[in-house]
Amino acid sequence: MQKILLIFGTRPEAIKMAPVVLRLKEAGCFHVKVAVTAQHRQMLDQVLELFNLKPDFDLDIMAPNQDLFDITSRVLLGLKEILLQEKPDLILVHGDTTTTFAAALAAFYCHIPVGHVEAGLRTRDKHRPYPEELNRHLTGTLADYHFAPTPWARDNLLAEAVPPERIWVTGNTVIDALHLMARRVQQDNGYWADYFSREHGLSIDGRRLLLVTGHRRENFGDGFQNICLALRDLAEQADNLHIVYPVHLNPNVQRPVQEILGPCLNTSSPPGDNTRRSSISLLPPLDYAPFVYLLTCSHLVLTDSGGIQEEAPALGKPVLVMRDVTERPEGVWAGTVKLVGTGKQQILQAVSELLTDPRSYQKMAQAANPYGDGKAAARIVAVLGGLK
Ligand code: UD1
Ligand code: UDP
Repeated sequence: MQKILLIFGTRPEAIKMAPVVLRLKEAGCFHVKVAVTAQHRQMLDQVLELFNLKPDFDLDIMAPNQDLFDITSRVLLGLKEILLQEKPDLILVHGDTTTTFAAALAAFYCHIPVGHVEAGLRTRDKHRPYPEELNRHLTGTLADYHFAPTPWARDNLLAEAVPPERIWVTGNTVIDALHLMARRVQQDNGYWADYFSREHGLSIDGRRLLLVTGHRRENFGDGFQNICLALRDLAEQADNLHIVYPVHLNPNVQRPVQEILGPCLNTSSPPGDNTRRSSISLLPPLDYAPFVYLLTCSHLVLTDSGGIQEEAPALGKPVLVMRDVTERPEGVWAGTVKLVGTGKQQILQAVSELLTDPRSYQKMAQAANPYGDGKAAARIVAVLGGLK
C-alpha cells in the first residue's frame, strides 16, 4: 500500500488539504498520515476540528511574531526525524507558505518524492507576494508531481520546463471544501444567524454586508494603515453598510486594526432609527463554517487573501483585492475580481462605485467560477492511485 504523508501548517492549507485527506482515507487503498507544522496554532486547530482531522504528528512550531528564519528552520529540523522514521512513498504539500517550501525541501533531502497541490500560480515578481511567490516557485522546482488548479497554472509550469506528463489540471480543492461547507451552512441557515448574535453580538440585519479580511506581509505598515483609514471613512460616509472584519491574529495586523478601527466600534443605529447608519464590527478569526455563512450573506468582499479570491467568485460575490498584482488572474478575467491596491482613495472609490452603481455591481456579481467543480480532490486521488 502506498504510504502518503500530507504536511501542512496554516489555516488555508488545512482548508484546502482537508478534502484530499478525506478522499485518500475514503479510497481505502493508501496508508495515509498527516503531519502538521502548526505554523498557525489557533487558526489551524479551528480547521482540524471542523473537518475532524487528527494529525499523526504535530511539530507545534508557532511562536509569537515568528519570522521566516524561525519557521523554515523549525519545519526543516522538525520533519527530519519524522521523514526518516516514517519513510513515506510520497509527501503532499499545498500552495505557497513557508511550511510548504520547507517541507518540500525536507522531503528532497530525504529522497522522498513530492506532490504539490495548487501548483503553478505565479505573479513573476519575487517580492509580491512576499515570500509566497518564491515559496511556490521553489516548491515547484522541488516537486515531482504538480496538481495545477487551472489551465493557466499548468501553462506557467510548462513555461518553466516542467514535463507535461508530471502536471495534472484538477481544479482547486478550495471549491471542494467550499461546497462541503456551503451545504452544511444552507441546511442550518437560522442557526448561523443566531450563532452570530449569541457568540459575537452581531446582527445580520439586512444592511449591505461588506466582508473584509487582510494579512499579507507586503501590506504591513502603510498598507494596513490605509486599509483601516478607508474602512473608517466608509463607515462614516456610506449609508446602510455593515462592515464585518474577522481580524487575522498576526500582531502586525491586530495592532493597526485595533488602534484605528477600535474607536469606531459601536456606531450602529439606535433602535427605531430608520436611516440605517453604517457600522464596523471587528471579530476574531472565524471557524470556516461561520465564515462561509458570512460570505453567502455578503454584498461585497474586500480582501488581500488568496483563498477568498477563489471562494467569492464561486458564490457570485464581487471581490475587491487590496493588492497590485495577483497570482490568480482567472477571477479578474472572469470579471468577478478587481485589483484595487492599498491606497486609501482607490479603496474608497472602488467600494463606493459598487455601492452606488447597480450596473457595475451586477457585472461583477455574475457567478463565474474559474476554479473548479468541487471534484479536485477526487482527481488528485485518482492520479495518486495510478502512480507506480
Ligand atoms: C501565513 C503565510 C501566508 C498565508 C497566511 C494565511 C508564510 C510566511 N506566511 O502568514 O503565506 O497566506 O499564513 O493566513 O508562510 N498567529 C497566532 N495564531 C495563529 C496564527 C498566527 O497567534 O493561529 C500570529 C503569531 O503571532 C504568528 C503570526 O501570527 O507569529 C504570524 O504567523 P505566520 O504564519 O508567520 O504569518 P501569516 O501572516 O499568518
Ligand atoms: N477564513 C476563515 N475564517 C476567517 C477568515 C478566512 O475560515 O475568519 C478562510 C477563508 O474562507 C479561506 C481561508 O480562510 O478559505 C483563507 O485564509 P487566509 O486569507 O488566511 O490565507 P490565504 O488564502 O491568503 O493564504
